[in-house]
Amino acid sequence: MAARLARFLLVLELATYGPGYAGAAKMKVVEEPNTFGLNNPFLPQTSRLQPKREPSPVSGPVHLFRLSGKCFSLVESTYKYEFCPFHNVTQHEQTFRWNAYSGILGIWHEWEIANNTFRGMWMRDGDSCHSRSRQSKVELTCGKSNRLAHVSEPSTCVYALTFETPLVCHPHSLLVYPALPMALQQRWDQVEQDLADELITPQGHEKLLRALFEDAGYLKTPEESESAQQEGGVQGPVFETLESCNKAHKELSKEIKRLRSVLTQHGIPYSSPSETSSSEHLGSKTPTDRTAEQLPGNTGLLGNTL
Ligand SMILES: *[C@@H]1O[C@H](CO)[C@@H](O)[C@H](O)[C@H]1NC(C)=O
Ligand SMILES: *[C@@H]1O[C@H](CO)[C@@H](O)[C@H](O)[C@H]1NC(C)=O
Repeated sequence: MAARLARFLLVLELATYGPGYAGAAKMKVVEEPNTFGLNNPFLPQTSRLQPKREPSPVSGPVHLFRLSGKCFSLVESTYKYEFCPFHNVTQHEQTFRWNAYSGILGIWHEWEIANNTFRGMWMRDGDSCHSRSRQSKVELTCGKSNRLAHVSEPSTCVYALTFETPLVCHPHSLLVYPALPMALQQRWDQVEQDLADELITPQGHEKLLRALFEDAGYLKTPEESESAQQEGGVQGPVFETLESCNKAHKELSKEIKRLRSVLTQHGIPYSSPSETSSSEHLGSKTPTDRTAEQLPGNTGLLGNTL
């Protein structure tokens, strides 16, 4: 793989650490001498790129914030790819043709978090691609210098980039917990305690952590996205058939019963809205919501829809 890359790739070194470097906003791209169409004054490459929205605010591990405002590029066969952390991913066709393609492959949106680790940066809402938007996931891996090491397109209009940086070489550098403000760490502690005490289910645990990561700004709430607005702000699952809805309802009712018995076992009082109303008006609320709402330290997470 490395040998293949070495043969193929021309990595553009960027003057990001140059002597004149004063702050995060300044960026200087040094082009290689043979730039094909790129330095052609009759090709206003960048002016053609119309971002659909502003990037999300910079978030995540503080030691990565210094990458904001910089850009790193990679030439692979006839394309030059450019990754600007916390901003965008773009693609520029290297050709003499007057209509060389330039496009936005994603705008900084949110982190991917798995196993309590920052797994990648999602850049979404790029140029249209059939009925969807191009999007890119950038994985950060340990390397001797900052460089865009690899680009591929694992599925149509979804790009996978590998960015190497010394900033993620420490084994704790991408852990989520240490990146959180203390108040959110304490909230996380409580969620773990509640799980250990079986006051919440693994699903409830996952949901509370997701809400916590959203509050930290690492993940974006789906409600904010266009598709949710198009559905008129409908919350909760949408069922395709009455049968599947009934089935889900039955499962939720069973879960409520189980959670009630857990509460009773632990001698925790709960206000019980009349049996019939709670089981007939479940709507988008899940039993874990109901339980979590009555626990200390979890207020404010679940909105005031209950
Ligand atoms: C991409 O990000 C860079 C660096 O922040 C910025 O200078 C450039 O204008 C952005 N490009 C687009 C098309 O938004
Ligand atoms: C999850 O993270 C821990 C510590 O960071 C690591 O030891 C473990 O191997 C990871 N598990 C998976 C499935 O990635």
